[in-house]
Amino acid sequence: MRVLITGGAGFIGANFTHQTVRERPDVQVTVLDALTYAGDLKSLVPVADHITLVRGSITDSDLVERLVAESDVVVHFAAESHNDNSLNDPSPFVQTNLVGTFTLLEAVRKHGVRFHHISTDEVYGDLELDDPAKFTPETPYNPSSPYSSTKAGSDLLVRAWVRSFGVEATISNCSNNYGPYQHIEKFIPRQITNLIDGVRPKLYGAGLNVRDWIHVEDHNSAVWAIIDKGRIGETYLIGADGEKNNLEVVQNLLEIFGHDKNDFDHVADRPGHDMRYAIDASRLRDELGWEPRFTDFRSGLEATVDWYREHEVWWRPRKEAVEAKYAQTGQ
Ligand code: NAD
Ligand code: DAU
Repeated sequence: MRVLITGGAGFIGANFTHQTVRERPDVQVTVLDALTYAGDLKSLVPVADHITLVRGSITDSDLVERLVAESDVVVHFAAESHNDNSLNDPSPFVQTNLVGTFTLLEAVRKHGVRFHHISTDEVYGDLELDDPAKFTPETPYNPSSPYSSTKAGSDLLVRAWVRSFGVEATISNCSNNYGPYQHIEKFIPRQITNLIDGVRPKLYGAGLNVRDWIHVEDHNSAVWAIIDKGRIGETYLIGADGEKNNLEVVQNLLEIFGHDKNDFDHVADRPGHDMRYAIDASRLRDELGWEPRFTDFRSGLEATVDWYREHEVWWRPRKEAVEAKYAQTGQ
């Protein structure tokens, strides 16, 4: 099987590439990545001898068409992925998430190639803290930020290409991932690298916002389950029942580092900050028999802390610029 992975130099795509090389030696992997500020060649060094890496944009229709024509499956991770950046400048989000997905869809339509679209639970908006409900595939779309609205738009493009043109596609909407190779602009690695540097963790607002954490390896095993066994045209929600509020996450990290649980700062809140995400993954579990393996959040977090401690060369070059950017918004 020839698999084209878009965004394979980013957090989840790199982990997916590693997992694929490790567990599926008969799969031929090509990574297409523009190596934006979020992509990092270092993340692919351990698998460099087993993949073909193409540097380029998913908005480049000639390049995309050539690569898609040589593939059996496209797994589409490439995106602008950070909400805070989308509030500062939405333009690359529209280009990559909407125009890029459109460009890929046109190519898979022309060449009859199977497509799996990676999306987010944020397309559903947010839930109240005291609401027992979780997101299901039937929850209406209600995105809040430029990031999530462009992801919602890209999902709708995929659905339309399935219905109108018979494209063989599936969609997955996953909750918040954590694990190795995550960009240090994101919540967990930002706080871990702050703590390594002796800086107090920074909580947006009161810190009561809830995210449904899943280890990146579990996200990616679910993606493979969908590629292997998923029904064409179907949407699968991926989550591992990992709801935690941000304060709990920070206090877990403080404990791991041996600090007092109050050694953190409240900083300016994110405008339009979604309150709570929660995933009902029963379709994935019941239909495809998928189960998460990393169900102990605390030990997953400890392993992630160890990874950042051991891979300072990977994250250190970005730290100063990331913190300078946050300083501009008082975060
Ligand atoms: P990331 O920002 O770490 O990586 C994105 C990758 O895409 C980078 O390597 C970047 O260089 C590449 N890229 C960006 N624009 C491109 C373009 N125009 N052409 C080619 N490559 C381009 O993101 P991530 O956290 O790994 O997220 C990957 C996917 O998973 C995204 O589609 C995101 O919406 C989705 N997702 C993420 C999470 C999460 O918690 N991180 C949860 C659910 C879904
Ligand atoms: O739900 C899936 C989504 O999860 C993905 O689609 C996105 O690509 C991914 O970035 C993530 O979005 P969030 O906005 O939830 O993740 P982020 O890591 O930016 O923030 C997680 C929570 O932590 C959120 O409530 C904001 C808060 N936060 C974040 C940072 C960076 C802080 O309190 N302090 C911080 O310094």
